[in-house]
Amino acid sequence: MSRKGIILAGGTGTRLWPLTRAVSKQLLPLYDKPMVYYPFTVLMLAGIREILIISTPQDLPLFRLLLGSGQNLGLELSYAEQAKPEGVAQAYQIGAKFVGTSSSCLILGDSFFYGAELVRLMSEATSRESGATIFGYQVADPSAYGVLTFDSENRITSIEEKPAKPQSNWANCGMYFYDGRAVDFARGLKPSARGELEITDLSRCYMKDHTLHGEKLGRGSAWLDTGTADGLLQAAQFVQTLQVRTGMLIGSPEEVAFRKGWIGSKELRGLADAMGKNAYAETLRQIAAE
Ligand code: DAU
Repeated sequence: MSRKGIILAGGTGTRLWPLTRAVSKQLLPLYDKPMVYYPFTVLMLAGIREILIISTPQDLPLFRLLLGSGQNLGLELSYAEQAKPEGVAQAYQIGAKFVGTSSSCLILGDSFFYGAELVRLMSEATSRESGATIFGYQVADPSAYGVLTFDSENRITSIEEKPAKPQSNWANCGMYFYDGRAVDFARGLKPSARGELEITDLSRCYMKDHTLHGEKLGRGSAWLDTGTADGLLQAAQFVQTLQVRTGMLIGSPEEVAFRKGWIGSKELRGLADAMGKNAYAETLRQIAAE
């Protein structure tokens, strides 16, 4: 069974109001693309082709409009509503039928990852048939995140959700690789003090079972916060800086589908032409002609 992907792209986004009052946060621009393109391509880079997109009843039609069936990228996309934002781990209750007993990867629709080691670490995570893999990234202020501690062999010794006194600077990134037990574990979760089904509690089920692997994303990687106006602008500038300097795209699903061999150059050119005249389509045409 191949690993399934879930993008959780709901929530109220009130922290970014009025920006997100009418539009879903994960559809806001990160430089030249909608934010959700970035986690979407991360799943594709991990070789995942069956992906469930979860969002609010109001926003889900917009994600469908943007991403469609996925067939044109060699993917199989499906969509599900989250009626209320009752926690990240609820993705595994909503997606229970889609995931079944397959292994899976859940990524938050507002996560931005970049770095050379990412693909290798994801491929190691995918090759672990049992257990779970979560990722840590060193941040100056970890108190807004799940916070991880590691032992000397990089095994995770604790995860605490938004601790007042963090025990380390390692924030738990918004990407989780779980084996076929995730749906079962999610069924047993109870809402936390803040009334949410916590993804941290789901990861803890694996920790108790001694099958929770931790990977540290090092200095060569970026995991950026898009949860504030400043974070959003900084992430956009990060993409702009690299794209303008190199002429290469970051977070293009069309390019990744092509590089993975899921579509050919003719299909890539077709996708670019359907987008009309703009810089993004022009870069895709250049890639197709390489
Ligand atoms: O960003 C990583 C952090 O994500 C982890 O370090 C934490 O351990 C994990 O709990 C989570 O933190 P928050 O719960 O504070 O994340 P937030 O509320 O910002 O939600 C993350 C994304 O998921 C956001 O784009 C909104 C979306 N979301 C969130 C909830 C709670 C949903 O789509 N539905 C939900 O029910």
